Amino acid sequence: MAINLSIVDEKVRNPRVPLTELEQSAFCQVEPLETKPLAEELNAGVRWQRLPDSYVNMTPEELTTRIEANKVQLGSRAVILGHHYQREDIIQFADFRGDSLKLSQYAADQQGSEFIIFCGVHFMAETAAVLGGAHQKVVLPNINAGCSMADMAPTDDALDCWDDLMTTLGTGSVIPVTYMNSTAEIKALVGENGGAVCTSSNADRVVAWAFQQGKRVLFLPDQHLGRNTGAKMGVPLDEMVLWNPFQPLGGNTAEALEQSKMILWKGHCSVHTRFTTDQIARARQEYPDVQVIVHPECMLESVQEADYVGSTELIVKMVSESAPGSVWAIGTEINLVSRLAHENPDKTVFCLDPVVCPCSTMYRIHPAYLLWVTDELLAGRVPNQVSVAPETAHYAKVALDRMLSLS
Ligand code: 13P
Ligand code: SF4
Repeated sequence: MAINLSIVDEKVRNPRVPLTELEQSAFCQVEPLETKPLAEELNAGVRWQRLPDSYVNMTPEELTTRIEANKVQLGSRAVILGHHYQREDIIQFADFRGDSLKLSQYAADQQGSEFIIFCGVHFMAETAAVLGGAHQKVVLPNINAGCSMADMAPTDDALDCWDDLMTTLGTGSVIPVTYMNSTAEIKALVGENGGAVCTSSNADRVVAWAFQQGKRVLFLPDQHLGRNTGAKMGVPLDEMVLWNPFQPLGGNTAEALEQSKMILWKGHCSVHTRFTTDQIARARQEYPDVQVIVHPECMLESVQEADYVGSTELIVKMVSESAPGSVWAIGTEINLVSRLAHENPDKTVFCLDPVVCPCSTMYRIHPAYLLWVTDELLAGRVPNQVSVAPETAHYAKVALDRMLSLS
């Protein structure tokens, strides 16, 4: 295909780091995590949603008792979904727990409930709003529970990228795939342009499907999941280029784009990029029988050093089903690793990273927020409803349905 060099965008944007990314290490500590009254957790200094004072000083025990009572009163009107990375004091109330794929399927299946209380992050609540019934209201307990990775792909930057690719490479030359961890607007952009959503559980299947549709894939917003998936499918590393949204043509030449098989958006998860090959080497030194499993949001070199790479759901399955006495070093979010250690007392289960560093946006769902939203629902008000504009929802659903039909 002829390359049109005249349209190269000369604009260089000032690099912007999302606030959620700057706040990501706010809860890192050396001690095990333990829920404290919200007043104490507010000292972490991240952007929290304000709550009435009465909730801020309640002890975790008081909060638990009151949430339990509210859950009974709400009955089948509300279903509580909990992502595996939520803290234990939230997961204990979840009617369903799972990874992004499982929870999106639950959201689509739970048409009977009036409210879906999504204990996860904003893009997950948006997905539930897209897949849930028109009569259902999705509530995110703390509206500031976003995701730094999703925030690395703002709509305007992705639209500019798409325009540049279409002008440079031609219509039909790129199939867009977005990770579930992206906004509904990005999912809609992908759906409207012939692409699909994927999760960490099905990225290889979705990318394989995309390659059947066209010769090149734009993968947003996680460069690592994109690169790991491409590498697993045999795409050479030099045929995967990085798209830096702050550079003209993403920092590439038109020729490099033309020769590429995958164009990886320059986004990452700061929780999963903490896991290093040095940590893996230390785990192997300390426990010669250790099995190392890491999430595919980790960097390629860590994935290559691990014994297994698996989505959150696969990590749960492999550790739970392993033989008593097994030793597991895990590269994923600490709340899940701690829960697996607790639920598998006959095994040795530990996190690769010695620093206890939860996902700071997931961690913002403190029980005080869950109590507040259930109090509000019982009072006849719908707090923190997450909804998606109809046209965006339509195309986002196109991209989600393409994924679900492949799952
Ligand atoms: P999964 O739930 O798809 O494993 O994704 C992990 C994650 O980072 C969620 O935010
Ligand atoms: Fe986003 Fe990473 Fe947190 Fe998942 S773990 S919500 S990708 S920041």
